[in-house]
Amino acid sequence: MTSSSRQLRARARQILETEFLFGSTFIPNRFRTISTPDEKSIVNSKSREQLLESLETRFCSVFPLSESLESAIRPVFGEGAPHADLMFVGEAPGADEDREGRPFVGAAGRKLDDIIKAMGFTREQTYIANVLKARPPENRAPLPNEIADHSPFLVEQIKIIQPRVIVALGGPAAHFLLDSTEPISRLRGTWGQWKCDERSIDVMPTFHPAYLLRQYTSEVRNQVWSDMQQVMAKLQ
Ligand code: URA
Repeated sequence: MTSSSRQLRARARQILETEFLFGSTFIPNRFRTISTPDEKSIVNSKSREQLLESLETRFCSVFPLSESLESAIRPVFGEGAPHADLMFVGEAPGADEDREGRPFVGAAGRKLDDIIKAMGFTREQTYIANVLKARPPENRAPLPNEIADHSPFLVEQIKIIQPRVIVALGGPAAHFLLDSTEPISRLRGTWGQWKCDERSIDVMPTFHPAYLLRQYTSEVRNQVWSDMQQVMAKLQ
């Protein structure tokens, strides 16, 4: 083997190792065979924040509220840390969220804030979203076609944020994320997996904070707290 081909091989190995270690597509210019950047390098160069912003813009242009869920005042896309390890997913915005354009800001949201605080986190350290990105009229349950329309945006949010754990708040979120129809009372407390493409993320289903407020018994409180303790242990 000539010394120049040895050098080339060593360089190629170095590049492969860099890709493996950092997940980056580090390709020196002289190895490029195409002159325009490929899609992956464009995605890599954008921050998660920018990706979430453009996803929200895309949602608003694809589903103008004047045409779908026309009684909603504004979209409630989701908020929080783009690199959050912990993500909460609820069902759909209610009246308070619709007014403010932010998820979980009403009574159920204040209870969720208490839960997050008790877990030792701040709300800002987490990411909070819903399956539906706009309020259904009179808070009715989301229709299957609405879930089918909006949920691809939740899937994209999860792919961008890449949380270590997702907490599914209530039946509709758990059913969507776990592809299950079991009642939440049976699902809660047991780890499930959100699977998409090659990815898989741990999901802890638990009762919705609105249910907790309605059934404020020590039994339900203990159940939710024991679910969250499992989440805390997983994140340690
Ligand atoms: N309930 C939900 O499921 N989501 C919200 O954002 C508020 C209440």
